[in-house]
Amino acid sequence: MTTVTLPPGPSARPAVQGAYALTRPVRGMHRMRERYGNAFTVNVPIFGRAVVISDPAEIKQLFTTSPDLADNLDQNLGRVLGPGSLFALAGEEHRKQRKLLIPPFHGRRLAAYEKIVEDETVRELASWPHGRAFATLPSMMRITLNAILRAVFGAEGAELSELRDLLPRLVKLGSRLAVVPIPRVDYGRWSPWGRMWAMRREYDAIVERLMTKAGRDEDLDARDDVLALMLQSRYDDGSRMSHSEIADQLLTLLTAGHETTATTLAWAVERLRRHPDTLRQLVDEVDAGGSALREATILEVQRTRPVIDLVGRQVKADSLQLGRWTVPKGYAVLVSIALIHDDEAVFPNARAFDPSRFLGTKPDLYQWIPFGGGTRRCLGAAFANMEMNVVLRTLLRDFTLVPTSERDERWHSRGVAYAPGKGGRAVVRRRNPQTEPTTTATTAGARA
Ligand code: HEM
Repeated sequence: MTTVTLPPGPSARPAVQGAYALTRPVRGMHRMRERYGNAFTVNVPIFGRAVVISDPAEIKQLFTTSPDLADNLDQNLGRVLGPGSLFALAGEEHRKQRKLLIPPFHGRRLAAYEKIVEDETVRELASWPHGRAFATLPSMMRITLNAILRAVFGAEGAELSELRDLLPRLVKLGSRLAVVPIPRVDYGRWSPWGRMWAMRREYDAIVERLMTKAGRDEDLDARDDVLALMLQSRYDDGSRMSHSEIADQLLTLLTAGHETTATTLAWAVERLRRHPDTLRQLVDEVDAGGSALREATILEVQRTRPVIDLVGRQVKADSLQLGRWTVPKGYAVLVSIALIHDDEAVFPNARAFDPSRFLGTKPDLYQWIPFGGGTRRCLGAAFANMEMNVVLRTLLRDFTLVPTSERDERWHSRGVAYAPGKGGRAVVRRRNPQTEPTTTATTAGARA
């Protein structure tokens, strides 16, 4: 029989530990590390008994562990996104689906989406007020929503505006319900789950219309959007993805990719206004047509302000040997992204915002982990990086971002991701008023 060896941790009741984790998410993790070291055991509602790790070697070991031994958490978004969602799938089924979804998010395909992102950014930024403070997060949310609806769903016209209206509401309710048990009794259409399923039916009907239209499109094979690619893709045995699998997967991509990217962009604004030297260098670089510092800055924003704090796996084997620990079946193992990103031994001078640490070098993907790691690493990482790069390039090219000496914005949990507490407030001036876009396309119709 294997002996269980768990790291130390608090002995308070689960509800108390959970309340602490909820009210002080990032600071709470730091306190725990100060007290117990870089691994600790907690017992919190939803996850139950969980081991939190932040040691680089143990993280690498977890991410490279076979899915037979540790796979996705039992409590995850999959239950609201549908049985076909990558989040709901494990083992071989997960591998099969992922294989079909990887090609649209790589190489040449991404270049095709750049134009969409730039158009959406120019259109949204045209509404930014001159010289007056405002929160950038709502703008970033609209840009990333519209970019995914066009690049991923291939939506336009009526379906685009219907999805733009429906999806933020559906995702918001869904991410709250992801941690609530599905009731055995139907409490009717006005109950939270009743509203959720009604919105889901509406969503399925719109996506079905998109797929029917795509099916009739004679130029389907020339299209770059992910929906068109999924309709044409085949599993190893030659069979196609079903419509319900595609609908679940599209909703997954939107839920995983919209708010995460938008909140990171809002943090980029928040960080850059407080680091005027970097900001100045970035403007010079954009004017000279370069991108190296901008790419390094995006990495550093994600290191210092990871919008997802924890990724986890559930132990499926009888026990999992993880460095110093032997974790029993059923436990969750949670990787604290914020703690490893803030570890002096891994990132010297970790508290400083210093993009130059990533200049001319690629981050180690088991230490710089805002996108998680291993077989479940974020599928949209390259898409998100392209998107953030294009949005920042456009912003720096067209606007002067006014620096500030205000205090750092605090972390604020929005359900899926952590955002800057004041929404990444900015004061901007258009750099070249002559180039003011003539279209005022940020009409209500263009917004979500
Ligand atoms: C800055 C933006 C983003 C961040 C910080 C982020 C972060 C993450 C993280 C932490 C995970 C879990 C990884 C793990 O468990 O190891 C994940 C999974 C995932 N993300 Fe992202 N994500 C971002 C953008 C996107 C975008 C733009 C898309 C797609 C359009 C996307 C699609 C996905 C999918 C499908 C998964 C599930 C992968 C799987 O289970 O195999 N993400 N993401």
